[in-house]
Amino acid sequence: TEVDVDPASYDAGEHDSFMHKEMLEQPAAAERILRGRLDERFGTAHLGGLNMDARETREIRRVKILGCGSAYYVGQMGASLIEDLARIPADAEAASEFRYRNPIIEHDTLYVAVSQSGETIDTLLAVQEIRRKGGRVIGLVNVVGSAVARECDGGIYLHAGPEVAVASTKALTNMFVGFALLALQLGRVRDLSIADGQRLIAGLTRLPGQIEEILAGEDALAEMATGLAGAESLFFVGRVRGFPVAREGAQKFKEISYRHAEAYQTSELKHGPLALISTEVPTVAIVPDDELTDRNIAALHEIAARRGPLVVVTHAGVDLGDLDVRRIDVPRNERELDPILLTIPLQVLAYHAALTLGHDIDKPRNLAKSVTVE
Ligand code: AGP
Repeated sequence: TEVDVDPASYDAGEHDSFMHKEMLEQPAAAERILRGRLDERFGTAHLGGLNMDARETREIRRVKILGCGSAYYVGQMGASLIEDLARIPADAEAASEFRYRNPIIEHDTLYVAVSQSGETIDTLLAVQEIRRKGGRVIGLVNVVGSAVARECDGGIYLHAGPEVAVASTKALTNMFVGFALLALQLGRVRDLSIADGQRLIAGLTRLPGQIEEILAGEDALAEMATGLAGAESLFFVGRVRGFPVAREGAQKFKEISYRHAEAYQTSELKHGPLALISTEVPTVAIVPDDELTDRNIAALHEIAARRGPLVVVTHAGVDLGDLDVRRIDVPRNERELDPILLTIPLQVLAYHAALTLGHDIDKPRNLAKSVTVE
């Protein structure tokens, strides 16, 4: 069974839904998680709640991230941040699957449980399984004093504030920022240079304003969403850092628009799903300005040749040539931080598609805010 939060206990104010209110709260929420945690002089993060000294932190040889649904997808973004900045092998796994494969728990692995509510049973049981076997778990949790937070050896509170809408927005953004802080600290006790640490800190400081900039473009995104809402089935595609973004975009779309939205690695389209592309099946493609831009654009041509409608989330200056696409430009930051900025417009698209379709945005059918029984 599932437990619902009573929306009446909070106030959506002038907004038509909590999801809308919470999306717009993201710049302030991101500022809150950063507050007091950035150390510009040493180019690192202060995360006292981890309860680990520098020596223990240096002994970590692997990072394993566990969460469910969107928390799992942000966990994949977090694994990339940790690999990029700290060069520690990291991966994310669905917490709901983890304990059923009798996982090998290693003493030099840092386990990270990610959860907005801190009450998701699958995540909680994964934490208990790890601790029972003597592993060290930290939590990235929003709700203070929640079950996951209590069970962990330490952690980073997300400070996103209460999140009521089933479709998570501001908590996810703060999970990403939390991972960036963790990656920064892990990196700076290893080989990440002070200059790179400071570069990341400057990037993190710019994030809230850039999120605000994207949200200010809501009207144009709403118009694109109306077009997408008419499709029965859509693809969300991305590569490497862009793939978890596509997964999260598809998840939001499924949850509240009830459209079939499938996330795929852009590179894998030609190995099967390209057969599904037609004028009826739009693709939302994540094409940041990075080392994969040209390859991503080549895939867009494959889709366009099958007359698949395209929405491209990219950066200003990326030359899409003569491709006929609807384009969404997000602000540039450090490449490692791109995923969260690429994710924000996808929230807005899902929200406006659901609004167009007249769905109950905050309480989508068959879903509840936290799933507390297996
Ligand atoms: C997000 O939009 C979803 N409603 C869902 O996937 C959610 O992220 C998942 O159930 C995990 O919840 P938690 O963060 O509270 O553990």
